[in-house]
Amino acid sequence: MFYTNIAEEYKNSQCPASFIIKISDTDRKNSETRICVDFGFYCEYLNEQTRIDLLNKSTEIGILLDYIIENPQRKQPMDIDIKDKEFYLFQRLIYNESGISLTSAKKELLKSRLMKRLRERSLTSFKEYYQYVTEVDTTGEELISMLDCISTNLTEFFREPAHFEFLSKKVLPVLLATKKGHHEKKIRVWCAGCSTGEEPYTISMILAEFMERIGEWDVKILATDLSTRVLKKAVQGIYAKDRLRAIPIQMQNSYFEKVIYNFKDYYQIKDFVRNMVVFRRLNLTDEAFPFKGQFDFIFCRNVMIYFNKQTQSNLVSKFYKHLAPDGYLFIGHSESLTGTDSKFRYIQPTIYQK
Ligand SMILES: C[S@@+](CC[C@H](N)C(=O)[O-])C[C@H]1O[C@@H](n2cnc3c(N)ncnc32)[C@H](O)[C@@H]1O
Repeated sequence: MFYTNIAEEYKNSQCPASFIIKISDTDRKNSETRICVDFGFYCEYLNEQTRIDLLNKSTEIGILLDYIIENPQRKQPMDIDIKDKEFYLFQRLIYNESGISLTSAKKELLKSRLMKRLRERSLTSFKEYYQYVTEVDTTGEELISMLDCISTNLTEFFREPAHFEFLSKKVLPVLLATKKGHHEKKIRVWCAGCSTGEEPYTISMILAEFMERIGEWDVKILATDLSTRVLKKAVQGIYAKDRLRAIPIQMQNSYFEKVIYNFKDYYQIKDFVRNMVVFRRLNLTDEAFPFKGQFDFIFCRNVMIYFNKQTQSNLVSKFYKHLAPDGYLFIGHSESLTGTDSKFRYIQPTIYQK
């Protein structure tokens, strides 16, 4: 706890991320990762591969540090300026790879998000980092890590609750009755830009509430995101207590169980609701999506806001194609299909039907 406090203090003060870490023999590598993952510290001992390997295991890791001492050699934060020319290169690369449009006003934001990548690669200019991403690293892994840093992943359970109300009151009664009428059991949902899982798990809880005997149905929620970092977290379905605040208590009790992680209480979504959701990495700007069947409804909320009109328009046409007849599209509260050449019927703000 003592070391956690020190680390938290440094994190909050945004002190240079430079420490020598001495760790007990038992689990040195894991401890190093834990420090890096949770507090974003650069660790002297850690090579990149170890970091990546251990990052995957980070949630099972406890703090096993003997002590942390500041490294006087690396006291100052590394600050590297991003030149306009360099910014434009990244702006174009990010747009081409993710559809995310960064205006010039985002220059400082881009710089601060990418600094960590430069540090990890021991690079001293953004030009070098650009070359690293586009030429040196032929595996494409650094590109993925770079996009992980760029994406904004803000989300929460029951975000924009009117959508879930509409889902239970208007969409599901008709959908399930129609399916029953046709002796169909399949419900297919796509949650596009699912971030750390709160949105698809909210949908799975709503479905579980609505269907008295969920076992009678074949339900699959495909949850996709560009960021591998958020998907790792989503798959685990483990959240701190305060993340559950928007979930009614009765639902918290029915769908979550307490787990101990890092000597603290966390809450994990129960298997029967977790298993409805399948997480995959998928780039929404890909030319085509590899889906065989159609979806009964699609959630894509607070994602298109990062795209320009052309990218939004292309994506909306693909949503239309992949929705079943009468299927619904839910978009974020500050988004609209105005300006996209969409065939969707407007139902109410942010809800559309095929
Ligand atoms: C602000 S979060 C929204 C999360 C959730 N939909 C919600 O409304 O709470 C936006 C998500 O979109 C993802 N994203 C951004 N560009 C994407 C792309 N081209 N393909 C897939 N996902 C993308 C980001 O990684 C991020 O997790």
